[in-house]
Amino acid sequence: MSKAKSKPKQASNKTHRVATSGDIEVSTYLEIAKEIAGEQSVTPAEAISPAEREAIIVIDFGSQYSLLIARRVRECQVYCELVPHDTPWERIAPLNPKGFILSGGPASVYDPKAPLAPAYIYESHLPILGICYGMQVITKQLGGQVTPGIKREYGHAVLHLSDVDSPLFADLPSTSPVWMSHGDRIEEMPPGFRSLAYTENSPVAVIGNDNQIFGLQFHPEVAHTPEGKTILKNFAYRVCGCQGNWTMGNFVTESITRIKEQVGKGKVVNALSGGVDSSVVATLIHRAIGNQLTCIFVNNGLLRREEAERTLNTFRLNLGMNIIYVDASERFLRRLKRVIDPETKRKVIGGEFIKVFEKEARKIGKVDFLAQGTLYPDVIESTSSVSSASATIKTHHNVGGLPARMTLTLLEPLRYLFKDEVRHVGLELGLPEEMVWRQPFPGPGLAIRIIGEVTREKLEILRGADWIVMNEIKKAKLYHRLWQSFAVLTDVKSVGVMGDYRTYGYLVAIRAVTSQDAMTADWSRLPYDLLARISNRIVNEVPGVNRVVYDITSKPPSTIEWE
Ligand code: XMP
Repeated sequence: MSKAKSKPKQASNKTHRVATSGDIEVSTYLEIAKEIAGEQSVTPAEAISPAEREAIIVIDFGSQYSLLIARRVRECQVYCELVPHDTPWERIAPLNPKGFILSGGPASVYDPKAPLAPAYIYESHLPILGICYGMQVITKQLGGQVTPGIKREYGHAVLHLSDVDSPLFADLPSTSPVWMSHGDRIEEMPPGFRSLAYTENSPVAVIGNDNQIFGLQFHPEVAHTPEGKTILKNFAYRVCGCQGNWTMGNFVTESITRIKEQVGKGKVVNALSGGVDSSVVATLIHRAIGNQLTCIFVNNGLLRREEAERTLNTFRLNLGMNIIYVDASERFLRRLKRVIDPETKRKVIGGEFIKVFEKEARKIGKVDFLAQGTLYPDVIESTSSVSSASATIKTHHNVGGLPARMTLTLLEPLRYLFKDEVRHVGLELGLPEEMVWRQPFPGPGLAIRIIGEVTREKLEILRGADWIVMNEIKKAKLYHRLWQSFAVLTDVKSVGVMGDYRTYGYLVAIRAVTSQDAMTADWSRLPYDLLARISNRIVNEVPGVNRVVYDITSKPPSTIEWE
């Protein structure tokens, strides 16, 4: 995969701006607190991966699409893990691999330092599928010839099948669009291989041999290759012989057994935020060990209208969880007095959160585990050797952030899940749809949506405006289609007229964006009528506001949040 299209580099955790695939609010607090304390007194739990299950292993050579391959395979209900190319066999064997996929990558195989596949890949005699760079790796290692392409092939191409009987091509039309991105090409196939398909510029676009080793010159994992998922599914089922037992129902059953084993008679504490990840973690663990779990829910006074009540209702009343609710609003607001700088706000909020959390956790007595909603993309970013070296990867914020001085073992039952899988686990566990499909909400809450000093008065104004935005967006059935939609209370005041009176009120900005992963985002082309309704309602129903504007900048160059 070429670097030419690499995503913009993410802001680092120096600024605490978080680029994440979802809500990670509590973890961010903890991360900040850890940084402030400058220490980590933690015993990370042994990473238990879902064992005894068939798996396809993606060997990562650093393509920005590597994780997408794993996602696509899992969408076919086959468990899939991404591992760095230098991962030892001992780490792979317990996963019960049924086949390997070699990812794309930015290197060129004739570079002397080019990463290659470990010998066990070939010695295992399991099926292999090389994608782009992965195909070139196979070619080189099995005795073929790769040379720099005279013409770079980038973008759409049409794939023509030459061997329609290949199991890889079951249910595929004889021609279909594919997405290419390569410079090098296969000059000479390794002995025993034949060309199975071609494009105009690549006479050898797919290769295969009789030992179930295949290579694709294009990317089946991206949306621009519409038949790509079928090819990956064919590889998993028809070539590797997978049965497809990776379902969220199975995951829940297995996780409950595993959590019971891991925790035994121990006590677990969880920081509940009402966000998807912390809610699913809490519910899953509660299912497994009941009252051995205590959740601490800190109301920092920066939540949206009715947020605290709704979260408490769901977890305490409906699910019967053991919850310590702390209304620490006063304390947070006191500490935020005269704080204007966005990063100072984040630090103050993070620092206060940890103090409150620790104080409450001490009251429970001896605690053994801290539950966290760490997700698979966070884990990958902290472990993948190639990925961490590649130019495209964001700094992770979600792993290992723990309260200083608390010696706890991490319990991370979602460690191997993608965000969409977490949502399905939530549904499987019976959490309300409204909670499962919630848009991400930042840990520092409304504080970073109020430009300038955070005051009680401004919070009330913003809550009012936010309520209307949410309400109208939901009524227009756009809530789930948008990554985030919210109001920002700017520090600008302007003149208006209401009835016969001159007003001098606040300017509220509306932000609504579409995004895949928050790393990039586009402003949503909301219907004018909807914008008009939102604007009318805000100026009429929220005292103190007399003007509404719509933010029409994408990310980059802007960010999603205003602070
Ligand atoms: P930006 O504003 O950087 O946001 O484009 C990307 C995503 O991260 C969320 N965000 C945060 N989440 N703590 C969080 O837990 C934070 O300090 C924070 N800042 C931004 C933001 O809502 C968006 O989803």
